[in-house]
Amino acid sequence: MCGIVAYVGSKQCANLMLEGLKRLEYRGYDSAGIATIDQGKITVVKTVGRVANLEDKLEQVGGIRGSIGMCHTRWATHGGVTDPNAHPHTDDKSGICLIHNGIIENYVALKTYLEEKGHKFKSQTDTEVLAMLIGELYDGDLEAAVQAALREVTGAYGIVVMCEKEPDTLVAARKGSPLMVGVGDGEFVIASDGSAIIAHTSHAFTLEDYQVVKVTPKGFRTSTIHNVPVTPKVQQLEIELEQIELGSFSHFMQKEIFEQPKALRNTLRGRTDAREGKIVLGGVSNFAKQLTATRRIVLTGQGTALHAATIGEYLIEDLARIYSVAEYGSEFRYRNPIIEENTLVIAVSQSGETADTLAALIEAKERGALALGVVNVVGSSIARETDAGVYLRVGPEIGVASTKAFTGQVAVLTLLGLYLARRRHMSGDECSDLIRELEQIPDKMERILEHDAKVRKVTEKYVDRENWLFLGRGYNYPTALEGALKLKEISYIHAEGMPAAEMKHGPIALINDGMPAVFIANKGRQYEKVISNIQEVKSRGGRIIAVATEGDEHIKKMADDVFYIPDVPECLSPMLAVVPLQLMAYHAAVIRGHDVDKPRNLAKSVTVE
Ligand code: AGP
Ligand code: GLU
Repeated sequence: MCGIVAYVGSKQCANLMLEGLKRLEYRGYDSAGIATIDQGKITVVKTVGRVANLEDKLEQVGGIRGSIGMCHTRWATHGGVTDPNAHPHTDDKSGICLIHNGIIENYVALKTYLEEKGHKFKSQTDTEVLAMLIGELYDGDLEAAVQAALREVTGAYGIVVMCEKEPDTLVAARKGSPLMVGVGDGEFVIASDGSAIIAHTSHAFTLEDYQVVKVTPKGFRTSTIHNVPVTPKVQQLEIELEQIELGSFSHFMQKEIFEQPKALRNTLRGRTDAREGKIVLGGVSNFAKQLTATRRIVLTGQGTALHAATIGEYLIEDLARIYSVAEYGSEFRYRNPIIEENTLVIAVSQSGETADTLAALIEAKERGALALGVVNVVGSSIARETDAGVYLRVGPEIGVASTKAFTGQVAVLTLLGLYLARRRHMSGDECSDLIRELEQIPDKMERILEHDAKVRKVTEKYVDRENWLFLGRGYNYPTALEGALKLKEISYIHAEGMPAAEMKHGPIALINDGMPAVFIANKGRQYEKVISNIQEVKSRGGRIIAVATEGDEHIKKMADDVFYIPDVPECLSPMLAVVPLQLMAYHAAVIRGHDVDKPRNLAKSVTVE
């Protein structure tokens, strides 16, 4: 999901909009563009590359003036990464200019229709088709033309449109791609994320699907695409400026790794009662009875969120004794899933906007499942689509590589596991013990983070190797998957994560002299078995990097390098074991000279299927 920022008011808006766009840079994109209306004329400047490239281009053309405008970062879906395909797009008839996030699914049919009417296209995008269609339907009322065009469209969109003939009006609409309207004093900022709004106003409302807003400096009007008026709820934005600024850190990913103890304290605050052996989850309390009756749980997500969901699967099954399974949203949705009575689906997502996860959730709901969200972004699509949920409360996550959201998700799933367990068979004492352990996780994480310099040193030794293995068992098999994903997404090193036992069923053939194999070998039920797996790799020339429990001297004899984590009950260990793996991936990317927060080809949240 890329970025949209638009402004109408009395200020010169180009720089103000670009500042906002930079706050969205972390989402990942391939081109950027801007347009304003000045003295009744639209000017568009766009380019492939970063916002910095757009700024260079603007400087070459002597800047751009206007107190109404829009800017965009594109993550190409239809048509290559070229200047003409970058947004904004204009029409050839009515002076329309438009930016769009998402996909117009029926663009081929619409394009044929418009070509027959004589329109000439300058790009290969689906977006330009929408600009042309609005221009074709324009009859002196931009809002009406946008509504009419959207009634013909299938797909996903967050759009902002302006028109030379109405030079003080922005019209925006949404279906499936988030869009917020910041309400200032005689000025409005429309953006795909609150972080681009907060510097101007803290009052904003979210557009719902199929809603359209018309904004002028005098005010706004909200309606549906069928022109039924709606009243939005203007709310206080919860983001604070400092949360989205780097401070003393070099990268957002680094900041977010180090923020984890604080973030987790926020996740847990007010939700645990160790004295009573009780978990308090306000967001699900209306469904307590249904939750107690749950017989089957499907946890769904993508990427890192799926890894957290898989830990959730182990946790809930183990603690609450409810049959649980974690599945990719993208697979679950299309397999004609069986949803029996008393099935609970849990959608796990940082952004709350991941299209695959959202689609799975909707599918499960339609088949009768109760839906819970484990989501970070308040008011996001998944949060709104679920019946109930538990927010992560870890603050905005800006680094494309998810870190604090992962540990937050695992913490919330632990809370849910304990909540369900307590309502079924777990004793108050047992629950109290686990709560006390859980409450100590943030402090224990801090101890691990103190060894950052050592992690960097170890990483330096192996950073030139192009193939790595990550191996773990039980609760830490998903941790191994997460370690491998972190390494590949920001350092572009090929890494595979798998259950340690699976290695000997094929992947062992990959092991050659010096290949790094990272083992999560903390004390637990399968410790001895992991040790045997380590021996198997070692005897074939692999180099062993182990994550082990403090005090384990034995492992030093086998491993080339050891990262220690404090002792915790096994079910809580992934939240600690993942930390050295996050740091290792971070350092590997820095040493290899990559752009840690904006890895190639990746977007922070993927709002297309
Ligand atoms: C994590 O580092 C990834 N960039 C990615 O796998 C991510 O976790 C996935 O796209 C799901 O995103 P979500 O949590 O916002 O739904
Ligand atoms: N589908 C449009 C394109 O490829 C918009 C992509 C986006 O969301 O940036 O240009």
